[in-house]
Amino acid sequence: MGRGEPISDTAKVLSRFVDGIMIRAIKHEDVEELAKYAEIPVISGLTNVEHPCQALADMLTIKEHLNGFEGRKLTFVGDGNNVCNSLLLITAMLGMNMSVACPDKYSPYAEILEKAKEIANENNCEITVTADLAEALKDTDVVYTDVWVSMGDEKEEAQREKDFLPYQVNKDLMSLAKPTAIFMHCLPAIRGQEVTAEVIDGPQSVVFDEAENRLHAQKAVLYYYLK
Ligand code: NVA
Repeated sequence: MGRGEPISDTAKVLSRFVDGIMIRAIKHEDVEELAKYAEIPVISGLTNVEHPCQALADMLTIKEHLNGFEGRKLTFVGDGNNVCNSLLLITAMLGMNMSVACPDKYSPYAEILEKAKEIANENNCEITVTADLAEALKDTDVVYTDVWVSMGDEKEEAQREKDFLPYQVNKDLMSLAKPTAIFMHCLPAIRGQEVTAEVIDGPQSVVFDEAENRLHAQKAVLYYYLK
């Protein structure tokens, strides 16, 4: 796609070759454009705005560890990024409460937040976004974080490292959640930045169950679209 062919042409050509496309793209609009012109299923494998396949694997992991979603709470700590956006949408759909703990200027995408709040309203669950860690982590069942510098943000690295330092998921931060809380991360993780080794490699971490569930959840996605 880097050669400058219109995305609509790529969509039409690939539609003649294969049964489905899973695309990882920096620009969310590119995926939408591809889907508009393709005659086959187009699955988002990550964009700057959403990470829906990860969110499916995450919910499978939560179901396995917590036995369900209603009345449960997930707290996303750090950057209101693509992973956070998809978690907002999927937790709302499943009736799970969600809090985002982030510095003000790193809030989730306003459009997604609004949509997620509408869904949450229908499903009797709550969404809160706050810079206050204690408030966001109170009574939470799942502590989730992701990298501070996502694809496309590389130029802001130094500033982001400074801004997110108070939001590092370490033992002290974990102690603000329920003692039974699990720790999740979409991986790849940078130990010593968004999470310390003692947390990601510790007893509360379920990150490798979560990683394995990418395989199972994505098998389900393929089955759903291709059967
Ligand atoms: N937020 C990260 C997710 C990587 C799987 C990024 O966009 O780079």
